[in-house]
Amino acid sequence: MAADRTTMGGLGFSCERELMNFDLLAAAPSSISTGLLVVFASDRSSGKDKAAKPEMSLLSSDDLVRKAAAQVLASGEFTAKPNETLLLHAPTGLKAERMLIIGIGKSATATVHDLRKAAGTAARFAKPRGIRAFCVVAPLGFAPEMTARAISEGVIIGDFESDTYRTDRTNQSIESVSVVVPESDLSAAASGLREGAVIGESQNFARALVNEPANRMTPAILAQRAAEMCEEVGLRCDVYGIQKLRELKMGAFLGVAQGSDEPPALIVMTYEPSDAPAEPVLGLVGKGITFDSGGLSLKPADSMEKMKYDMAGGAAMIGAMRAIALLKPKVRVISVICAAENMPSGKAQKPGDVQFSMTGKSIEVLNTDAEGRLVLADGLAYAKQLGATHLIDAATLTGAVMVALGGVNAGAFCNNEDAWQHFEAALRESGEKFWRLPLDEEYRDMLRSPIADIKNVGGRYGGASIAAAFLKEFVGDTPWVHLDIAGTAWLEE
Ligand code: BES
Ligand code: ZN
Ligand code: ZN
Repeated sequence: MAADRTTMGGLGFSCERELMNFDLLAAAPSSISTGLLVVFASDRSSGKDKAAKPEMSLLSSDDLVRKAAAQVLASGEFTAKPNETLLLHAPTGLKAERMLIIGIGKSATATVHDLRKAAGTAARFAKPRGIRAFCVVAPLGFAPEMTARAISEGVIIGDFESDTYRTDRTNQSIESVSVVVPESDLSAAASGLREGAVIGESQNFARALVNEPANRMTPAILAQRAAEMCEEVGLRCDVYGIQKLRELKMGAFLGVAQGSDEPPALIVMTYEPSDAPAEPVLGLVGKGITFDSGGLSLKPADSMEKMKYDMAGGAAMIGAMRAIALLKPKVRVISVICAAENMPSGKAQKPGDVQFSMTGKSIEVLNTDAEGRLVLADGLAYAKQLGATHLIDAATLTGAVMVALGGVNAGAFCNNEDAWQHFEAALRESGEKFWRLPLDEEYRDMLRSPIADIKNVGGRYGGASIAAAFLKEFVGDTPWVHLDIAGTAWLEE
């Protein structure tokens, strides 16, 4: 795919497939000529009392904007529920052609995460109406940097489309967004705006990889896409094939890959800023199964097609590396993606086979469909060998996590309380929804094998924790967070 490179309006950075321009305006919203002025609103009535009459609050200090909205807000037709929209044409007293009011819920409980979703709603609202540029009034009451970040991130992820292969697709991408802030917030907002844009674009980059069908996203293609991205943003990227996997004695990874005609790829991305201390070194490991048929433990036909998204953990880590390269935190980061196809064939591994993992541990492979933990066993061990002192892995690992948490929360597991505190703090900042699940020793007991050090499946229940207990065997004492994203990586809507 040809990369369009355009510079972000005045903010001095460019990125692959970048189509959206952002700028900041320090002007009275009522004085701005625009096709669409977006203003947020919340409900000031008591958060606790459900029966209380809504009290609309328009989140702008511009009297003319508030006046233009006063009548419709007083009518009770709009109650500022999260993502509720109300459009006014030719709003009285404003230079804007239209004003879009978007709800963010109760004032007492609304956060920047509600704002981010509302900014996404603005993009989704504008696109089908042919509006390619709009202006967003940054609401007061939130930290200016986080506000700007939420707006740019929300608009960019709201702009994402999945109609790549429709020949009748029309480009309705949002071209430019201006964010209106008080003059005193300009510099904080500029850095937030850029951060949100980098994070949003990196998410869309990952989402585009995940959406690709398996015939257009083989391990080799995933590696190529990662390498192209690394080249763009200045990361080192090494891609290894079967020979290297053999040298590294990655028997668990090789066992999964051997059933496919598509060769596996071990993708290693490295971010090594000169101003970072030698330690910690963060290791980001991703499951990159570009298609999971189940192997000889074949999956049923219905919904097998979804298994093209079994590389979502890998895609998430590739996207994270892109964001890291552009945001330049002062910490070293290594990412290891284990990319392979899990296929049945005359060469495929068979239920009952024993494989030796890179760490030397033997694994009895009782179910070839529990392949994610096999490739990750070697990926985690390799990240440690490369110097990672802290590990995070992301994987569409188990159907069981979907049963437990549905599509609302992803599952998280951790072997170290200090690491968990850090991770939890990051969750609060990002607005990502993860729910911690247990990792007791008893789950490990279910993986005892009579003939090998461990087997790759346990009992029928508690599958997400059993899978995590399997991985835990390969990280040793290294602080580690395991993210089982099987339930959240795919959205039907
Ligand atoms: N890729 C699947 C898990 C999955 C299921 C992801 C549904 C997304 C949606 C994984 O490789 C798998 O097949 N896991 C098995 C493990 C079982 C055999 C112990 C599962 O969860 O059924
Ligand atoms: Zn599987
Ligand atoms: Zn899988």
